[in-house]
Amino acid sequence: MFPYKTYFKLDRKSSQALYIQLSNQFIQLIKEQKLPSQSKLPGTRTLADLLNVHRKTIVACYDELAMQGWVESVPKKGTFVHCKLPDFNPKELSVSETKNNDSKKFDFYTNDFLGRKFNELKDDWTYINDGICDTRLTPVDEIARTYRRVAGKKNIYKDLSYVSTYGNEKLRKVLVAYLNETRGLKINLDNILITRGSQNGIYLSSQLLLRENDVVVVGKTNYISADITFEKSKAIIKRIGVDEEGLITKDLEKLCKLHRVKAVYVTSHHHHPTTVTLSAERRIHLLNLAKEYGFAIVEDDYDYDFNYNHAPILPLACHDVNGNVIYIGSVCKTVAPVFRIGYLIAHKSFIDEAAKLRRIVDRQGDALLELTFADFIQSGDLDNHIRRVMKVYRGRRDLFCELVSSELGNYVDFEIPKGGMAVWLHLKTPYNWSKIALEARKYKLEIGDFNRYDSIKSNHNCIRVGFASYKEEELYVLISKLKKAITSCS
Ligand SMILES: Cc1ncc(COP(=O)(O)O)c(C=O)c1O
Repeated sequence: MFPYKTYFKLDRKSSQALYIQLSNQFIQLIKEQKLPSQSKLPGTRTLADLLNVHRKTIVACYDELAMQGWVESVPKKGTFVHCKLPDFNPKELSVSETKNNDSKKFDFYTNDFLGRKFNELKDDWTYINDGICDTRLTPVDEIARTYRRVAGKKNIYKDLSYVSTYGNEKLRKVLVAYLNETRGLKINLDNILITRGSQNGIYLSSQLLLRENDVVVVGKTNYISADITFEKSKAIIKRIGVDEEGLITKDLEKLCKLHRVKAVYVTSHHHHPTTVTLSAERRIHLLNLAKEYGFAIVEDDYDYDFNYNHAPILPLACHDVNGNVIYIGSVCKTVAPVFRIGYLIAHKSFIDEAAKLRRIVDRQGDALLELTFADFIQSGDLDNHIRRVMKVYRGRRDLFCELVSSELGNYVDFEIPKGGMAVWLHLKTPYNWSKIALEARKYKLEIGDFNRYDSIKSNHNCIRVGFASYKEEELYVLISKLKKAITSCS
């Protein structure tokens, strides 16, 4: 007889019932063919005595195995391993095989271009980012209190179920009013879909606008995640120049005469990565071209809230009388990336289609969080938060720019950005960021993947450096490490 007594290990302290522990171990024995098809299992009384458990435990275990189809009970004969089980090919895989060689198991499509390294952050290191908010300033307590209040409402159960793929209706209403007021939009409930942040909006738009060989136009330097999202649609990416007035729309006009352009992606408020603002003249030109050539403008307004020298510049979407603009935004830069709440604004038929597509990617949003943000926005707390952090970020921008001028002025050129959370730093020759990035690690400074700013490999020697997420003392450290890295490359 199989040495059941030594083989079975029962943990009487485990929260898992003994009969389940036993049946799982039986299944393992059967899969490994240590108990081949048609083997007879011991009688319930015998096994109970052997394992020192109640007979009912064995009966329950055999019932469980029979119910799952591993064994069958033959009246007056006993319980047998099922005769129709397929061969399990019991060769044990080594750890390295199971972990690393999974391509053997089935075919799947890979997308190397989607890959991006994410640094594991170490405490005493400084990491350059491309302009993110300081999450230490996020009003977590306020948001948590609102979440609790929202979740405790009497009739909340309706919001816990499957709900609209367009997003929570209250948040949509609040956002419609908020965006009409702050961005000068003229939208209603038909024009909005709540997304999981801006990236979700870019993806949905890309999937709806672009198929293989469709043409999408972006800047010669562009937000890399938008580039790869369009690449995923197999679209052809055409690039136009970017100067101190933003996308060079004359180049776009030339392209429109040669190709059927389906979409233009633009970060009009502060171009990503260079931070320049699209001039009024180019805005009008772009809108006119969209009307004339019938393309969509995907306007990614990722950092609308942060302006230090002037009132926010109203988005293209507010001047769009023809319905060409798809407007995308989120609270992820303003409040914190963890709150995946964004919006996609467009004409009704596009929004309806996006809602259908969203259903198969992400069924619906997080209604509790959406209700929380509806309250957070409606109560004025979002605006208060923006006012508070703007002051802080303006101070950080000023200090950062002063330090770059005084400490790194011999090595870099830059323009003081009028808004946003980052500066575009141009490194003067003969230095280059690759060498400096290597050197910087000696000083525990990680410059990150700066190559992503140069999609066309033009060697522009620029990187985008965020300032908003560092406290004053951290900015001093960042600049001092960067200076050491640059000077030791001399
Ligand atoms: C230009 C731009 N668009 C979109 C996003 C994505 O933002 P979200 O976190 O809202 O998805 C980012 C984030 O860094 C960004 O820089």
